[in-house]
This record gives sequence, structure tokens and C-alpha cells, in this order.
Amino acid sequence: MSTQTETDVERKVRDHFDADAERFDAIYKTDKGFVGKFIDDYWRGVVQKRLELNVENLKPFAGKKILDVGCGSGRFCLAYAKEGAEKVVGVDFAKLMIDIANELAKEQGVADKCDFRVGAFPEIIDDAEAPFDASTANGFFDYIEKPVPIISKMRELTKGTMIMSFPKAIEFRVPLRRVRFWMKGTPLFLYKENQLRDILRDANVTDYEWINLDRDYLIVANV
Ligand SMILES: C[S@@+](CC[C@H](N)C(=O)[O-])C[C@H]1O[C@@H](n2cnc3c(N)ncnc32)[C@H](O)[C@@H]1O
Repeated sequence: MSTQTETDVERKVRDHFDADAERFDAIYKTDKGFVGKFIDDYWRGVVQKRLELNVENLKPFAGKKILDVGCGSGRFCLAYAKEGAEKVVGVDFAKLMIDIANELAKEQGVADKCDFRVGAFPEIIDDAEAPFDASTANGFFDYIEKPVPIISKMRELTKGTMIMSFPKAIEFRVPLRRVRFWMKGTPLFLYKENQLRDILRDANVTDYEWINLDRDYLIVANV
């Protein structure tokens, strides 16, 4: 799905994840061979750790309405729903990611709690839906050209907790990651610590825990 105002960066990212949806979701699957498991643990182990930390920091879930921005194949939303959240809204502009999310929600018996939407954030969320008790965005700011307005909008929509991951600009896997993305023509945005602190301040997110998580910074904010 495309929007009239879609930027070049957004189009490239959307195309990338539409083409990559199945492979991306496979990171979360446990039934893979030794080589596949080694590659996922080494390169993408952070994905599973992020999921665990999000769940840990959002407990207790009962009665909560949660927004997951750039939800991909919905793995975070499914976990929140299974932990007892009342309602989970997951948004992603890659339709094939949302197709997988809807399938998994049916398979795992939580389709009634999950509302997966194809579209760009923030346009896909109506202000009248706020407040959410929590909003999360993991592996998402890697692809966002202008993070301040996005974080500000998440903050406006949330009354409770915000959890966001940002990939480190200085980390030993960065050069290879940059080359991989450059070869695919997919934009990638990385963050230095001082730069990220300025971004959070500009988005008016001031009360937060800063977690160094493998190749990411994970921010758990009270808003
Ligand atoms: C690396 S995936 C992460 C998916 C999920 N959060 C996870 O960690 O499993 C990033 C997702 O963000 C989505 N995305 C990037 N920019 C977006 C935007 N402006 N609006 C909606 N989705 C976006 C992409 O389509 C992609 O599915």
C-alpha cells in the first residue's frame, strides 16, 4: 500500500520489508538447523532479547491497550496479547508483514485482541484512539529518516510507558550491516549516544531508562 505523501525512503523501506517478510519472521522461529540458528544468534540475537525486555517492562498486562509501531509480523503484539493485554494495535506499512501477523494471531488464538493495520505511522492512527497505556517500536527507528516527529506523536498518544530501540552507530557489526543495506538499496539510520539523547529531548521524552542492549540502545520511558 502506498500513500500520496510517501517519501523515497519510505517507499524503499516498504518494498524491502514486503520482499523480506517471510525471511524476517523466520528469525523468531525455533525449528531451524544449526547454521541458521548460529547466524540468527550472532547477527540478530538482539531481536529476541528486545522482545523479552519489552514484555518484562510492560508487566502487568491485564486491562492494557498497547500500540506497536512498525509491528512487522506481529510477534510483539502476539506476546502482549498472550500475556493478557486487553487490546493490541499493530501498524506496519508492509502488507505482507501484516498478512503474516494476522495468520499468526489466528493460529495462536489471540485474533480477537489484535488489530493489525496496513499503513504508515502516524497517519494510520486516529488521535481519538488515544490514550494507549503503552506504545512500543522495535527495530523501527533503523528505517526512520526524521525520528523526532514520530517519537513526539507516540508520546502524545501514550499515557504510561514507551519502549523504543535504536541501533548503535558505533558497534563492531556496523560496517558489514551498512554494506548489506547499501547493496540492497535499503536506507539505514544509526544513532550515536549524544545524538539520541538530543533526539529524545527534542521529542520531549525526558524520564527514561537507557539500556545498552547488544547492538541497540533500548529506551524505556515514562510518559
Ligand atoms: C525490522 S522490522 C521490525 C518488526 C517488529 N517490530 C519486530 O521487531 O519484530 C521494521 C518494520 O517497520 C516497518 N516500518 C518502517 N517505517 C514505517 C512507517 N513509517 N510506518 C509503518 N511501518 C513502518 C517496516 O515495514 C518493517 O516491517
